[in-house]
Amino acid sequence: MKTIAFVCQKGGTGKTTLAISLAVEATRRGLATVLIDLDPQVSACEWNDLRGGEQPVVVDAQPARIDTVLQRARDSGVDLVLIDTAGRTEQAALAAARAADLVLIPLQPSVIDLKTVRATTDLIALAGTAQFAAVLTRVKATGSRHEETRSWLQARGIPVCPDTIGDRVPFQDAYAQGQGVTELEGRGGKAGFEIRQVYKYMMQLVGMPTEREVQAA
Ligand SMILES: Nc1ncnc2c1ncn2[C@@H]1O[C@H](COP(=O)(O)OP(=O)(O)O)[C@@H](O)[C@H]1O
Ligand SMILES: [Mg+2]
Repeated sequence: MKTIAFVCQKGGTGKTTLAISLAVEATRRGLATVLIDLDPQVSACEWNDLRGGEQPVVVDAQPARIDTVLQRARDSGVDLVLIDTAGRTEQAALAAARAADLVLIPLQPSVIDLKTVRATTDLIALAGTAQFAAVLTRVKATGSRHEETRSWLQARGIPVCPDTIGDRVPFQDAYAQGQGVTELEGRGGKAGFEIRQVYKYMMQLVGMPTEREVQAA
């Protein structure tokens, strides 16, 4: 079982949006997947309520309970656990980063988001997570700000996912409809393509195969 946490010490950077679509993609590829919601605002749980009980399994948990929840997942044969956290809640972010094999840091390519990066990488260092990487989200279709952001991060020793997540309406629609973008769009959609690319990147980082692909019924 591998555990991947979504952490950024700022709200609204796209943690939940990314986590839900990646969890759905893992499920579509046949992995037993659990999404743990550590955010007191429970936006992943609310997405799951809209979804109506399908896979992936979504559970809300307290940071202090994370090890117990993970052990239960391991005992029941879960392949992949994704942990969604809240911005500015150090306790939850730290608990998630401690438990994770990989932390992904969703970031929008803007100065205000970059200001929080140091707080996030300090927290990851404190947690001692084996691996971490930034994922650039809500990237505009025009302009080069994401390339400048990538260079800025890499110059500070922060790995960056080579593929970015665009600023796209299907990401918002998917949340509102209790879906992942790869379900909402089917094949050929741009948002779904981006999710599949980021999925492959994160799975490669944790050393899990990505070739299994199960089409949703
Ligand atoms: N790639 C994207 N394209 C368009 N809108 C997005 C994208 N990612 C996030 N959003 C929107 O930005 C807002 C914050 O995203 P969210 O995932 O809730 O962030 P966080 O979980 O980090 O607080 C939401 O309204 C969401 O719909
Ligand atoms: Mg969130």
